[in-house]
Amino acid sequence: MDSLPEPDAAALAASRTLARRLNRRIASAGGWIGFDAFMDAALYEPGLGYYAGGAVRFGPAGDFETAPGISPLYGACVARQCLQWLDHVPADIYEFGAGTGQLAAQVLNELARHGRDDVRYRIVEVSAALRAQQAHTIGTLAPEALGRVQWLDALPERFSGLVIGNELLDAVPVRLFALSQSRFFERGVVQDPQAIGGFAWADRPAGPAFEQSVRASLAQAGWGGGDPDDLRLDAWPDGYHSEYAERADAWLLTIGERLETGAVLLIDYGFPASEFYHPQRHRGTLVCHYRHRVHDDPLRLVGLQDVTAHVDFTRLDLVASVAGMRCLGYTSQANFLLNCGLLEALSEVSESTSGAQHAYLRQAQAVQTLVSEAEMGELFKVIAFGRSMPDEAIGFERGDRRGALACAG
Ligand SMILES: C[S@@+](CC[C@H](N)C(=O)[O-])C[C@H]1O[C@@H](n2cnc3c(N)ncnc32)[C@H](O)[C@@H]1O
Repeated sequence: MDSLPEPDAAALAASRTLARRLNRRIASAGGWIGFDAFMDAALYEPGLGYYAGGAVRFGPAGDFETAPGISPLYGACVARQCLQWLDHVPADIYEFGAGTGQLAAQVLNELARHGRDDVRYRIVEVSAALRAQQAHTIGTLAPEALGRVQWLDALPERFSGLVIGNELLDAVPVRLFALSQSRFFERGVVQDPQAIGGFAWADRPAGPAFEQSVRASLAQAGWGGGDPDDLRLDAWPDGYHSEYAERADAWLLTIGERLETGAVLLIDYGFPASEFYHPQRHRGTLVCHYRHRVHDDPLRLVGLQDVTAHVDFTRLDLVASVAGMRCLGYTSQANFLLNCGLLEALSEVSESTSGAQHAYLRQAQAVQTLVSEAEMGELFKVIAFGRSMPDEAIGFERGDRRGALACAG
């Protein structure tokens, strides 16, 4: 990890400003802040956080690539699922965390190809810098649709339509917990002038509410039995630590409470609880991306690197049902894309393009990246929830794994 590329002087200066701000926050909080507060600042501090600064984040010149940047066929498949649902809901799509705007452009283009040039597309994006990038991308790739795209500061109190979140929840700050000698701790951050980034980890006894929430999630995993109040904590090794996605829960609850008729489509890396909280995954799932290198120290390069956690899909399913939504399907990204006609879309590339062979080969390679088990096809999952929607969803027709979300205990 010491071999991470050195940031330039301006980036380092911004990172130091953010670190000073965090130091003041830690001091005024009595010397310790929860990791969720640290991650929130690292990613979203206005002007300084990873997603709130102006630097390139996505693509070859950035830190990582997401599926819409790999191939426009990805968005075409998402659009095909939307097309089916749009027969049952008003023509409104809400995308949360739209990144570069590529997915929005791909979805809008594919919908228009199928005669749905009436769809209004609302983007909810916390980063002002990314909003500008999204407008530019959509203006370039889907200029006819730009007039139907609107940026919202917040979701309406009541709404109907479709919600899309691609790699959204992995970027929502998480709380951390640790288990030591069968006691629960919350892992947070303290100042440490000796450490490379100036910060260090510190555990303190978990408050009762936090412990209860973590116990409930561990019970869903089944390894220590299914009763949160009577978990066999020795099922997990001493020193086990992992994440608890309280803010992602709150986000989904809000969506569920406000959605009158519609569906929510979430695509992200993660597992059911039985895998997420597997005793062998004893260091959790937190990872950082910096210039296409992956490492596990979020306390360094604050504001300059992406910090993400995998998604516990069992938890999402539970939260959605508390909010009154029904799971419409859960499967791997590979199954979802193939069900939505990825291969047919690929074959159309060769038919529609002049100089077709080159374009076809490029897209065929991208398809391989999207569906291969060794790349994105299996680690990434797709889950959909709905209210007042039909049961059938084309993306989950084959290979639906809803059964795997159930408690393993
Ligand atoms: C990992 S990026 C994914 C971007 C894009 N969806 C893609 O797949 O390329 C996460 C995105 O979610 C945004 N984000 C995080 N929390 C959000 C929230 N509560 N509401 C809206 N956007 C959010 C970030 O600013 C960023 O654009």
